[in-house]
Amino acid sequence: MAPEPVYVKEFEELARQALPKMYYDYFAGGAEDQYTLKENMEAFQKIQYLILAYQLRPRVLVDVSRIDMATTVLGFRISAPIMIAPTAYHQLAHPEGEVATARAAAACNTIMVLSTMATCTLEEVASSCNAVRFLQLSVFKRRDVSAQLVKRAERNGFKAIVLTVDAPLLGRREADIRNKMVSPKVKNFEGVLSTKVVDDLQWLRSITNLPILIKGVLTREDAIKAVETGVSGIVVSNHGARQLDYSPATISVLEEVVQAVGGKIPVLLDGGVRRGTDVFKALALGAQAVLVGRPVVYGLAAMGENGVKSVIEMLKNELELTMALSGCPSIGDITRSHVMIEHERL
Ligand code: FNR
Repeated sequence: MAPEPVYVKEFEELARQALPKMYYDYFAGGAEDQYTLKENMEAFQKIQYLILAYQLRPRVLVDVSRIDMATTVLGFRISAPIMIAPTAYHQLAHPEGEVATARAAAACNTIMVLSTMATCTLEEVASSCNAVRFLQLSVFKRRDVSAQLVKRAERNGFKAIVLTVDAPLLGRREADIRNKMVSPKVKNFEGVLSTKVVDDLQWLRSITNLPILIKGVLTREDAIKAVETGVSGIVVSNHGARQLDYSPATISVLEEVVQAVGGKIPVLLDGGVRRGTDVFKALALGAQAVLVGRPVVYGLAAMGENGVKSVIEMLKNELELTMALSGCPSIGDITRSHVMIEHERL
C-alpha cells in the first residue's frame, strides 16, 4: 500500500496504480514532445534562460491571526480561489464520475466547471449536489446539438458558460495514439468540432443570457479581442498542455494578459497548479482564481469523492499557510508586490 498522500502531486502515483495504463496515459498526457506539459509546472519554480522564476516577497510585520481565503468569481462566493477545471470522462477515473467530483466541489464550497465531454449527464450532476456549476462548452459543427446542451445547462441551474477556444482540432497526444485510446461514448456528443470560434461566440451570445467566459487565451492580442467581444471573463490556459506543444507556460503569460485586460473583466488561470504557493503567485500576478485539472482526476481515481476533497483541501491549507507567512490576511491583500520575478532583482 502506498502511504497516505500529504501533498497534491502524490495523487498522481496513486492514480497510476489504480488505473489501466491506457486511462492513466489519457489523463496524464500532453501534446507531442510534452514540452509545455513540463513547462506548466516547472515555470512556477525554475530559472532557465529567459524563463523566470517567481519568488515570494513576504511581509512579516502583519497580524495574521485570522486568514480569510473567501473570494468571489462572477459574483459567486467561494471558500477559496481554487476551482475545478473541466476535464473529460471522469467515469474512466472512478465509476461515480462527475457526480463524485461535483459533491466534492460542494463540500469544499467551490465552483465546478463541467466538461462538454462529461460521462455523467448535467442533470445527474445538478441533482446530486448544490455546488455552483459552470458548463464548459466545446461547440460542435452541428450547432443545434450545442444549443441543446446550453438550454439544458440553463434549466439545470448552471451559472455560466466557459467556452473553450483553444481546441478547434485535438492536439496530438502520442501516448493515446500508441495505446489506441478509444474515448467513451458521451450522450449528446456530436463528433465534429466547430472551427469558427469568432462566429461561435456571437452565436452563443445570441442564444443565452448566461455569462460567457473564454478559456484558452495566452496572448495580449486575444485578450484585447476578448474584451471587445464583451465576454465576462478570460481563462488563461493552454488546455493542460494537451493542444499546442511549445505554447508558453500559463503562469509566464498571465501578467501580459492581465495588463491587456486592464481590470475590465476577471482573468482566471489554469495549468500546472499543484501548490498553495502556485495559487498565491497566480493571484499576485493578477488572477482572480485558479482552476485545477489533473490533480482532481487523480484524487478521483485514487479515492473517489474523498480524494477530490483532499486535493482541494490540501491546496486550501497550503494557500492559507502561504498567506499567513506572506503577511496577507485576505485575498484582497495579495498584490503584485508580493511576488518577484527573478529578473526584477537585477
Ligand atoms: C482537460 N482539459 C479540458 N478542457 C476543456 O475545456 N474541456 C475538456 O473536456 C477538457 N478535458 C480534459 C481532459 C484531461 C484528461 C485533461 C488533463 C485536461 C483541460 C483542463 O480544463 C485544464 O485546462 C487543464 O487540465 C489544467 O491543467 P492541469 O491542472 O491539468 O495542469
